[in-house]
Amino acid sequence: MRTYLVTGGAGFIGSNYIHYMFEKYGDDIRIINVDALTYAGNLENLKAVENRPNYTFVKADITDKDAIGKIFAENDIDRVVHFAAESHVDRSIRNPEVFVKTNVIGTAVMLNCAKAAWELPDGGFKEDKKFLHVSTDEVYGSLPDDENAFFYETSPYDPHSPYSASKAGSDMLVKSYMDTYKFPANITNCSNNYGPFQFPEKLIPLIINNALQGKKLPVYGDGKNVRDWLYVRDHAKAIDMVQEKGKLFETYNVGGHNEKQNIEIIEIILETLQEMLPDNDPRKAHVSKELITYVEDRKGHDRRYAIAPDKIRADLGWEPETMFKDGIKLTIQWYFENEDWMKRVTSGDYQKYYEEMYQ
Ligand code: NAD
Ligand code: DAU
Repeated sequence: MRTYLVTGGAGFIGSNYIHYMFEKYGDDIRIINVDALTYAGNLENLKAVENRPNYTFVKADITDKDAIGKIFAENDIDRVVHFAAESHVDRSIRNPEVFVKTNVIGTAVMLNCAKAAWELPDGGFKEDKKFLHVSTDEVYGSLPDDENAFFYETSPYDPHSPYSASKAGSDMLVKSYMDTYKFPANITNCSNNYGPFQFPEKLIPLIINNALQGKKLPVYGDGKNVRDWLYVRDHAKAIDMVQEKGKLFETYNVGGHNEKQNIEIIEIILETLQEMLPDNDPRKAHVSKELITYVEDRKGHDRRYAIAPDKIRADLGWEPETMFKDGIKLTIQWYFENEDWMKRVTSGDYQKYYEEMYQ
C-alpha cells in the first residue's frame, strides 16, 4: 500500500485533496497529514476522514527537522505532497518573516528529510519515490491587460509580494535538488482556487460571508485586477495526475482559463446569492451591490494572472471539469450548509477543536 505524506492537509487545498484521494483510492492508500495548525489549519475540515484506519494526523511544524525526520524514520513514505505554507498575500505584506521561515526553510527541511530517507548509497534514489511541491502562478509576476498574454512553464520568475517571493524561493530550492541530486520531484504552479473549506480572508469566501451578513464588500483599487479561478477539486485532480503520470523533474502549470476581474466575481456572487436564497430568507433583503465599497489598493497589487494549461492538457490529459457558474453555486451551497463552520472560523472557536479531539 502506498503511503502519502501530505503537509498542510488541514488547510483549504490540502483538506480538499485528502478528501479527493480517499474518495478515489479508498483503502488502497495511506495518508499521513502533517500540519502545524496555524490560524489557517482547521482539523474540522477533515472530520469525515479522521476515524479512517488509513489516515493519521501528526501535529508538527515543517521547519522542525527532528519532528519531520522522525515521521520519515517511522514510516516508509512513498509520496510527499507539500502544501504547507503561509498562503495569504496581505498577511505577507504585514509580516514577511514567517513566510520566509515556513515557505523557504520549511521546504528545505522537507526536501532534506525526504532526500535522507530515499537516497541510496550510490547517490541514486529508491524506486517509485516522488515529491510534489505545490506552488503558485504568482511566482511569474503580473501580466498586462492583454487577453493574449499568459503564464507558461517557461515564463521567467518575477515575484512581487513577500508571499510570492518566498514561494519562488521554495520552487528554486526544489529545482536545485532536482538539478543537483536528481531528486525525484515535480512542481505545480496553480492559479487561484475556490471551493469548500476556504478561510474567509480570501476574496470569494470573504465576499460570500460579508454579503450574507450585510457587511461591506471591500474592493481593492479599481476592482479590475484579474485572477484565473479554478475549482479546488480540479486542482486536487491535477496534483494526483502529475504524481501518477507526470514526467519527473517537470513543472506543470494548472489553471482553468477562467479569468475574471474581481468586481465581476463580486457581482456574480451577489447575483448567485439572490438566485439561491429562498424568498422568505431575511438575508435576501441586504444582499445587494450597495454593499460594494472601494478601499485602498493592496501594495504592489499584481494586475493580472492567467495560466495557459497547454502542457498539462497535452501531456497528461488534464482538463478543468467545473465551469465557474457551477463551481460558484457548489461553493455557495457549501457555505449555506456549513454556517457553523464559518461561525467557528470567524470567532476563532475552531482552534479549540484540536484540544477537544486530540487531548
Ligand atoms: P492554507 O493557508 O489554507 O493552508 C495552509 C496549511 O499549512 C494550514 O493547514 C496551516 O496550518 C499549514 N501550515 C502553515 N505553516 C505551517 C508550518 N510551518 N508547518 C506545518 N504546517 C503549516 O493554504 P491553501 O490555500 O490551502 O494553499 C496550500 C498550498 O497551495 C500553498 O503552498 C499555496 O502556496 C499553494 N497555492 C494556493 C492557491 C490558492 O488559491 N489558495 C493557489 C495556488 C497554490
Ligand atoms: O494565484 C494563486 C494565489 O491566489 C495563491 O498562491 C494564494 O495563496 C492565494 O491566496 C491567491 O492569492 P490572491 O492574492 O490572488 O487571492 P486573494 O483572495 O487574497 O485576492 C484575490 C483578488 O481579490 C486580489 O486581486 C485582491 C482582491 N481582493 C482581495 C480581498 C481579500 C479584494 O479586492 N478585496 C479583498 O477583501
